[in-house]
Amino acid sequence: MKPDPDKLLAIDKKHIWHPYSAMDSDLPIYPVESARGVRIKLVDGRDLIDGMSSWWCAIHGYNHPVMNAALTRQLDSMAHVMFGGLTHEPAVELAEKLVEITPEPMQSVFFADSGSVSVEVAMKMAIQYWNAKGQPNKQRLLTIHHGYHGDTFGAMSVTDPVNGMHSLFADTLAQQYFVDAPSCRFGEACSDNDIAPLRQQLETNNNKIAAVILEPIIQGAGGMRFYSAEYLRRVSELCSEHDVLLILDEIATGFGRSGKLFACLHADIAPDIMCIGKSLTGGYMSLAATLTTGEISRTISNGNPGVFMHGPTFMANPLACTAANTSIKLLLESPWQQNIANIEQGLLKGLAPCSQLESVKDVRVLGAIGVVELHHPVDMKTIQPMFVDEGVWIRPFGRLVYLMPPYIISDSDLATLTTAVYQVLSSL
Ligand SMILES: Cc1ncc(COP(=O)(O)O)c(C=O)c1O
Repeated sequence: MKPDPDKLLAIDKKHIWHPYSAMDSDLPIYPVESARGVRIKLVDGRDLIDGMSSWWCAIHGYNHPVMNAALTRQLDSMAHVMFGGLTHEPAVELAEKLVEITPEPMQSVFFADSGSVSVEVAMKMAIQYWNAKGQPNKQRLLTIHHGYHGDTFGAMSVTDPVNGMHSLFADTLAQQYFVDAPSCRFGEACSDNDIAPLRQQLETNNNKIAAVILEPIIQGAGGMRFYSAEYLRRVSELCSEHDVLLILDEIATGFGRSGKLFACLHADIAPDIMCIGKSLTGGYMSLAATLTTGEISRTISNGNPGVFMHGPTFMANPLACTAANTSIKLLLESPWQQNIANIEQGLLKGLAPCSQLESVKDVRVLGAIGVVELHHPVDMKTIQPMFVDEGVWIRPFGRLVYLMPPYIISDSDLATLTTAVYQVLSSL
């Protein structure tokens, strides 16, 4: 029997908190009945073309038969066992695959249950590493403005202080070092001026800094900014020069979204520690991983207290690992580079007319990400129903209306998405 949408909404409104929202909010919420391919079907019968991949995740679309079959098989053998003292094939297969496809120095894998947790883990790894090397003062992180690394306290401490509302949590939040984000855009050179603030911090405070943490090339939730690959390359060189580790948060960018399998490959560099998540499982369930080098994992393991201090209950959940193994196989066996290049062309062509609109400040595209930046924040109460009426699922935030569809989207569905963006923005 179909759920009654009014009843669902009434209970939802009464008891459930949605992401970054108020209880009992009057912003629209849409009950979903099912999702298949690039269509999200609402309980009221409407079909929406998905422009969001459920926040970077659903790269193969929804309800994929190969994913479903693999998960059903895994369910028949076990949904979960603890990872303390036990191991299993899905985790072993996944770790081996991740080591194979990530930059070569990545050799050791820690499975976490969400992106934010994998960032916490990365920060702890950096701190434990320096502690084991006899430098316990290196406990702080250096990063750039406009970053986003998650909502747990450690991750929040390296997220943009304004977007992350650091003032609300001032007495609890770890104090980290921030410098201006580079103004050199993707495809541009990086000048000495662009890199100067980060260089200065490293020169002055490297005895206190355990690691620099960055989203490589694409700053996501902090502004959908695409920055110069040369900047990233120079950051990597400066980190080596100043004995500071480089943590790259590829949680949003990993698995092809930027046109490369991992965004750090645009700069031809490898991090010391790397976080992946989101599309790792093709959007089926929550799983993340923190990878590091053999040298870092050995140093931590040989130092005091001789163990790495983290171990989540659902670590390496077999169902999630199976989803990841299947999703990676599907991705690597698909013409993903061609698919992303097609989407990039479709976004460039389809979003170009938006740059003529007075309300629009900038239009930018990289890989399977298209961004229309406005001069003023959107009013969600007005704009969200307009997109739904156009038959698309697009969820703007602040001044950003953006698209990052599943990689399997057809040219015509993509054109419907870009046309909807133009129609809605031009009628506001
Ligand atoms: C770059 C980046 N890091 C970390 C996170 C946090 O991941 P999660 O929401 O799975 O905790 C996100 C989520 O949007 C992200 O985009």
